[in-house]
Amino acid sequence: MKINGTHYRSVWPIGEDAFGIIDQTRLPHELATLTLRNAEAAAHAILTMQTRGAPLIGAVGAYGLALAVREDPSDDNLTKVHDMLAETRPTAINLRWALKRMRDALLNQPREARAALAWKEAAAIADEDVAMSQAIGRNGLKIIRELADKKAGQKKDKTVNILTHCNAGWLATVDYGTALAPIYLAHDDGIPLHVWVDETRPRNQGASLTAFELGSHGVDHTILADNAGGHFMQAGEVDMVIVGTDRVTANGDVANKIGTYLKALAAKDNDVPFYVALPSSTIDWTLDSGRNIPIEERSPDEVLKMAGRLPDGSVTVVEIAAPGSGAANPGFDVTPARLVTGFITERGTCAATPEGLRSLFPK
Ligand code: MRU
Repeated sequence: MKINGTHYRSVWPIGEDAFGIIDQTRLPHELATLTLRNAEAAAHAILTMQTRGAPLIGAVGAYGLALAVREDPSDDNLTKVHDMLAETRPTAINLRWALKRMRDALLNQPREARAALAWKEAAAIADEDVAMSQAIGRNGLKIIRELADKKAGQKKDKTVNILTHCNAGWLATVDYGTALAPIYLAHDDGIPLHVWVDETRPRNQGASLTAFELGSHGVDHTILADNAGGHFMQAGEVDMVIVGTDRVTANGDVANKIGTYLKALAAKDNDVPFYVALPSSTIDWTLDSGRNIPIEERSPDEVLKMAGRLPDGSVTVVEIAAPGSGAANPGFDVTPARLVTGFITERGTCAATPEGLRSLFPK
């Protein structure tokens, strides 16, 4: 993705003993990068959400594990660091998927070969994520184009209005994104579109990250308070919803950022198509219901306080709640498959059903 003419990925190797990430806690006010030199630094970056988004934390976890293997290639260390990284965030399956893939690729290899192999495998995970995002973009573009063609025949505004929640763009993947990849391609293709960006309390990934991305790419967009989406759907101002996901279970249930479920309910009530975009690494075939997905409970401080920029340019955190009040802060919710119009994956599109998901993997 290009920012001010420079191409960035959200994670990149630095030689073979470090890797870089964009510090997402500093956006949108500052574009800062971090160099991570060991697995502990990778775990810290994931825990504190300097890096975030389901596919991206998979790639960051893989690079973190590769650095640990360079220091100590023993089976014990591989398992210990694998488990330590896997515990940083519980809901996104991609982290576990990537760490397992790393461990499986290394365990049967001679110790002296492991460091080089681990680095190669981490790079492959990152490169494959980019290719999957591009394919998701191409598959989602077809859906947006159909909507645009339908609107082109109408007298009123021909702009395709798409609502998205949280950040499922290039900052949540290695590049391009999942939910945002089709939007970028449609924009580049000249399809007139506008994106409603849910601010996504409590951490504001929509207002700070999605809006930053869309603005950098020149995509017309408007930030909405989280509660406003249903209102715009009732007014006929939303043609489709596209969101990303942290885990899809084998029956088609979808875990995504808290608040996604309410948007899916409102979309159903208003006949607005509700699509979920994902790489197939986000499918958890071991669970047959979203009820079994572990939901990350985050710090109450994220609800009780907010970070922002002051007129003097400094960034600070302010208290926004009644002193002494507590807060609950589940990071994700589960949207039942029956509310999902379809999945957009790198393998094609499908219904949000067990058969639909299985059809992506023909024998
Ligand atoms: O808590 P976050 O910011 O990591 O949550 C991110 C999301 O919920 C995204 O929508 C999801 O990871 C899909 S990213 C392509």
